[in-house]
Amino acid sequence: MHYTHQKRTPLLTALEKAADSTNLRFDVPGHKKGALPTRFSESLAQRGLALDQNSMPELDLLDHPRGVIRDAESLLANLYGADEGFFLVNGSTFGVQAMIMAACPPGAKILLPRNVHKSAINALILTGAVPVFLAPETDARWGISHGLTLETVKEAVSEHPDAAALLVVNPTYYGAASDLAAIVAYCHRRQIAVLVDEAHGAHLHFHDDLPKSAMQCGADLCTMSLHKTCGSLTQSSALLVNEGLVDHQTVRGAINLTQTTSASYLLMASLDATRALLATEGRERLSVLLPRVAAARARIAALPGLEVLSSADVGRPGIFAYDGTKIAVKVNGLGISGYEAYRHMRERLGIQLELAEPHTVLAVCSFADDERTLAALADAFASLSREFHGTRPPLEAWTPDAEGGGIPRPRLVVPPREAFYAPSRVVPVAEALGEISGESLMAYPPGIPLVIPGERITREVIRQYEFILESKGMIINEQDNPRLVRILGA
Ligand SMILES: Cc1ncc(COP(=O)(O)O)c(C=O)c1O
Repeated sequence: MHYTHQKRTPLLTALEKAADSTNLRFDVPGHKKGALPTRFSESLAQRGLALDQNSMPELDLLDHPRGVIRDAESLLANLYGADEGFFLVNGSTFGVQAMIMAACPPGAKILLPRNVHKSAINALILTGAVPVFLAPETDARWGISHGLTLETVKEAVSEHPDAAALLVVNPTYYGAASDLAAIVAYCHRRQIAVLVDEAHGAHLHFHDDLPKSAMQCGADLCTMSLHKTCGSLTQSSALLVNEGLVDHQTVRGAINLTQTTSASYLLMASLDATRALLATEGRERLSVLLPRVAAARARIAALPGLEVLSSADVGRPGIFAYDGTKIAVKVNGLGISGYEAYRHMRERLGIQLELAEPHTVLAVCSFADDERTLAALADAFASLSREFHGTRPPLEAWTPDAEGGGIPRPRLVVPPREAFYAPSRVVPVAEALGEISGESLMAYPPGIPLVIPGERITREVIRQYEFILESKGMIINEQDNPRLVRILGA
């Protein structure tokens, strides 16, 4: 037997190449290739894999911490003003699912906006919680959704006063925040727990010019991806608890249902060091970063064919406050899609963006950015504008009178858990109009499904999915062939 081909290491080789790339990073993780040294990165440089340990008495155990992990988690909770904090080693995906498992017993109703991340949809399949979808405010020109309004929450609560919980995504990927304090106060008067997906907002707590954090607003539970915006290692997140409607023992039980028993000390130690950095330097660093990002955003806004989201949009539907560390840019005025802009920036202009949508791209800025990186970002957008502006008519990926203003809103006709397990068959997506989906279809990132299990597939779902495929966007479906979808019915 010859194993020569087994000497290949396709993933490691690609990873090394990505690590060696000189492209400037405006994506996550927020440490941006270690641009911001911490106690953890220094220790990693010195000790390398010796830091990769398993549980032993002096290192505690994540499933039932009583020693150093407990101490580190308490420091984190204390910093955010929470009663309890849990380190997570499977990202905020796991945190969102643990929050829903803890707050929603089987059959309980949960209110949630339809633009949730796939982790929340999958939690419905895992738990059997009954979703009541709320319409987030949509922006048809940008083709994206923003936050929830208090009015939308009030309407949903008056129709479903028996709901156990409300899940809010705050801020959205693009930086829009809801009036979370008012939403929490309203829900708490009705004994409805508020769970916050703060995957994109672990930094909010540390500056008054940013939207208020979940814990500042009194939310019951929140999950934060410290890896996305604050510099810890990819996959390291945290779940915070404000004791009251959901107690921390229940949360612990939910976490321990599916958490690994071999939690990575690299991830946990990076959370510990990031927490220390946020506590000692977070406010100061944000005071320096925010005006720099604002200056880059203003330069981009002035370029022909480009538009940006900014704090000037506060007050528009679904934008109660804005997270100024994000730079969301609408590029379709250049006659190109977000996907083309993303590729051009990557392949020709040395900039790695976080994501593309049909009309929009997103740059994520973090503590690791400085004047040089932000000037390079604005310069790259200036080149993009020079190259494309006026060469083609503005690209409209959909017409404003398309269903949902271009944002598909398929109707849920079968509960997601039931649909996931129902007899089903696989058909081409192009032929699935009117069928009930057995799976989620989405672009990733952002990971917000166009359709979920139990929803009826509409023309707009098919059109947008095909647009993403043709634009070579990254997609997630369950089938090996991305052009196929599982539908209900044998
Ligand atoms: C809104 C939202 N929630 C949750 C998650 C999951 O976070 P993680 O990647 O840490 O699992 C994401 C990831 O992009 C997200 O965008």
